[in-house]
Amino acid sequence: MTDKFILGIESSCDETAASIVKNGREILSNVINTQVDFHKKYGGVVPEIASRKHIENIDSVIDEALFSANMTLSDIDAISVTYGPGLVGALLVGVSSAKALSFATGKPLCAVNHIRGHICANFVAHPDLKPPFVCLVASGGHSHIVNVKDYTEFEILGRTRDDAAGEAFDKIARVLGLGYPGGPLIDELAKSGNGEAVYFPRVKMDNNSLDFSFSGVKTAVINYIHKAEQKGEEINKADIAASFQEAVTDVLCEHTIEGALLSGAETVALAGGVAANSALRAKMTEKCKKHGISVIYPPPVLCTDNAAMIASAGFFEFQKGNFADLTLNAVPNLPL
Ligand code: KG4
Ligand code: ZN
Repeated sequence: MTDKFILGIESSCDETAASIVKNGREILSNVINTQVDFHKKYGGVVPEIASRKHIENIDSVIDEALFSANMTLSDIDAISVTYGPGLVGALLVGVSSAKALSFATGKPLCAVNHIRGHICANFVAHPDLKPPFVCLVASGGHSHIVNVKDYTEFEILGRTRDDAAGEAFDKIARVLGLGYPGGPLIDELAKSGNGEAVYFPRVKMDNNSLDFSFSGVKTAVINYIHKAEQKGEEINKADIAASFQEAVTDVLCEHTIEGALLSGAETVALAGGVAANSALRAKMTEKCKKHGISVIYPPPVLCTDNAAMIASAGFFEFQKGNFADLTLNAVPNLPL
């Protein structure tokens, strides 16, 4: 096979990103323009601001990705883009740019599901990784346990019934007055806290379901803080952060390992922003070891939103001959 170079474009939330990846595995450039400073003061992503910033930045981000890879559009074999799930206005910026580039250059267009993209970050980080394996995808918008049967074949083993894990991290960080995005701030603060200081609930669904529910633990933490405030008691933020993180990572590990055992997987991969969590990485590695299951995860920069993962997922669609045409539209609720 001759080498294939894919330009990936990502704009589903608050990162405008473009990347060139060789053969789905090797990063030649990975440009991420984060808007986090513009959304921080609102405590979360403001969709209108996100769309406007994507429009302002997308051309220069793509130019920079080509420039850093020392390439021009004529060196690219296909253009791949996230078309969902995500914020519709934000997605449309990437989709429109990708379609325009495809039309202008005559290069094929590959439509990528953002959640599949997160999983593919592991193919970039671990060049020898091959399916099958089980992947926990936990981010600000999604929490899924996925059986990765092949590069483009995925089976959902469990998913959240309410909040995503990252959403819970962001909410608790806000209640603790830590700032946004909350995950990395809780991760850091928890290092100086006692994870056994307060017991927060670990929700288990009936019928042996691997589904998650994080709204209960979120409410329990908020109630705990409010009660302490009403009584005029001082709260220990580090202990609360650590205890909350302990509860969430317990559930993420338990359900994922059950999924791996059920599907006979020898490897568990982590993906999505929450996969950057140091406690989750350590706990999953330790618990999986007892079952002879190995644990892998991408470096933090490939856990949170980026376009290298979209270029990788696009490469595998390209290989299968799965091309999109110029009728491609953004699909905000796209299932995995
Ligand atoms: O994958 P991502 O960048 O965007 C979505 O697709 O949602 O994930 C962002 C989420 C945020 O909720 C953020 O708080 C969380 O990932 N996150 C973390 C950590 N780093 C990012 N959560 C826990 N610990 C971290 N170290
Ligand atoms: Zn994401």
